[in-house]
Amino acid sequence: MLCQVLFFLYFSRAVNSFRAPYFVPEGRLVPDTYIVRLRENYGLQQHFEHCGTDLSVLSPEFRTIPLLNSYRVQLDNATVERLIRTDPGVEYIEHDVYFAGQTFTDTAFGNSTIQNAHSDLDLTTTNHSKRWDTEKIADAGWALQMITVAKKLNLDGRDKTIRTLRNPGAGVNAYVLDTGVRITHNAFGGRASNFRSMTRTEYCPPGSVNTDMGDDSTYSHGTAVASLVAGGSMGLGISFANAINVKVCCDCLGQNISMSSSGVALAFMDITEDHEAIVRSAQEGFKGSIINLSFTGPHSLTIEAAIRKAKSSGITVVVPATNDPHLLTSQDFPCNLAETICVASCDFLYQFYDYSAYGDDIDIIAPGKTIKVAIASDNNAIHFLAGWFRYFSPHSQLKLLGNSFASPIVTSVLSNFMGHEGLTNDPKTVRKRMLDNSIRNVITKLPPSTIVGRRRLVKTPNRLISIPTNRDHPRGPPYIGAPY
Ligand SMILES: *[C@@H]1O[C@H](CO)[C@@H](O)[C@H](O)[C@H]1NC(C)=O
Ligand SMILES: *[C@@H]1O[C@H](CO)[C@@H](O)[C@H](O)[C@H]1NC(C)=O
Ligand SMILES: *[C@@H]1O[C@H](CO)[C@@H](O)[C@H](O)[C@H]1NC(C)=O
Ligand SMILES: *[C@@H]1O[C@H](CO)[C@@H](O)[C@H](O)[C@H]1NC(C)=O
Ligand SMILES: *[C@@H]1O[C@H](CO)[C@@H](O)[C@H](O)[C@H]1NC(C)=O
Repeated sequence: MLCQVLFFLYFSRAVNSFRAPYFVPEGRLVPDTYIVRLRENYGLQQHFEHCGTDLSVLSPEFRTIPLLNSYRVQLDNATVERLIRTDPGVEYIEHDVYFAGQTFTDTAFGNSTIQNAHSDLDLTTTNHSKRWDTEKIADAGWALQMITVAKKLNLDGRDKTIRTLRNPGAGVNAYVLDTGVRITHNAFGGRASNFRSMTRTEYCPPGSVNTDMGDDSTYSHGTAVASLVAGGSMGLGISFANAINVKVCCDCLGQNISMSSSGVALAFMDITEDHEAIVRSAQEGFKGSIINLSFTGPHSLTIEAAIRKAKSSGITVVVPATNDPHLLTSQDFPCNLAETICVASCDFLYQFYDYSAYGDDIDIIAPGKTIKVAIASDNNAIHFLAGWFRYFSPHSQLKLLGNSFASPIVTSVLSNFMGHEGLTNDPKTVRKRMLDNSIRNVITKLPPSTIVGRRRLVKTPNRLISIPTNRDHPRGPPYIGAPY
């Protein structure tokens, strides 16, 4: 009896003094919004019992993230401290944070320069070898010319016809986490859709207004990048992947940009669930999933866990290096995760983008300046970016977002490997193909090697993305590593 009482006293004291770790990422916090991760094998019902209430009823923003044994909740500080932090079953609590407090402006997207595109896909296919069929894309811009040969070119800026794999990237699901996409745009040839047929996104920060799935950003960001990923129908990209619109940035009007870490993590894990279900069902024609992130931002444990989980489920994740020439990539999240493919950019003279972060976490370099893209104003509108995509930071220091359009170009090349080989669940081989086919040492103006810490020599790798299908007389496999 005494023993039981003592045990009870001891146990309740232990419980009362328990405080789950609480992490506050750098950056602007989403007011009163938290991501709570439970320990493995600890269930939500057990947790609710500890709290003495069903939190999903208490908070309209409550959402579970089953793959991470986590949930997102909006509650005041006192309630979190009293009910949640005292539960020993809680592994940690992380405050929800806005990604990209910076604001975009892009002078390049004026009305005056919008041109109407003609349909420039030549659908005649020829069998050049017994092994692979080719296709021709007419009026391909310099960026597509650059990435479809195995050597350095003298690019004259003129559009040309290039040869690609037949139906490149078909069957690959490319998830576009961005400002929404005009899915009816002719660049997508009917291959774009809204994630889970949503009419309203569930992934914008609490309190967002423009939650419809369209691209209502003033600068057409989501539509532009989606056209590089999957815009083969108008010669804007070298891929016929399925562009899946996962809107994470609502109200991205004018100077406002806001995405939240909880929204992005929720999107990531819902995509991962869908990917796993498609793989399990052995869906015909499916060739794998790829996610291109539309931000870099403060380090978040939740986003890190989500990226790890997506990769281990077989999804390839492509991210840009941050646009900050003084930033070492080891400090650049999520570029610094081994699970991501981190992209920096170059211009048509093969010069490294001088506003990019530098370091050995950069996996690949791709063209990112003066690129032709689709924009959302009508179903045929395309636009030639006059320079690097630009944004202003909240402290109004001008920064240039040159790496933004390089990462979707990498995504399009990787979807070629995935589609051709059916790499539905194999990010490791996708990465190997990328490295084996990259062109070495053709980029100039790379940041100098630097000694970091005591004696670590940090070098930015000199590797340009490539898939060498644009050949006059294609013989042999289409690219290094392709099965004969
Ligand atoms: C609650 O507020 C206190 C005092 O400002 C702070 O120390 C604590 O970290 C906050 N806790 C949470 C979970 O926000
Ligand atoms: C384009 O023109 C329309 C109508 O003239 C105007 O309302 C809109 O603000 C313009 N958009 C840009 C990006 O200049
Ligand atoms: C190319 O060859 C493949 C198989 O060898 C065949 O299925 C396909 O129809 C051919 N395509 C053309 C355009 O002749
Ligand atoms: C930008 O965000 C601020 C604060 O959230 C809001 O008051 C303002 O209306 C927004 N502006 C636009 C153009 O959406
Ligand atoms: C890919 O990432 C870039 C870099 O931030 C971003 O600007 C773009 O919106 C993303 N593209 C897609 C298709 O998600």
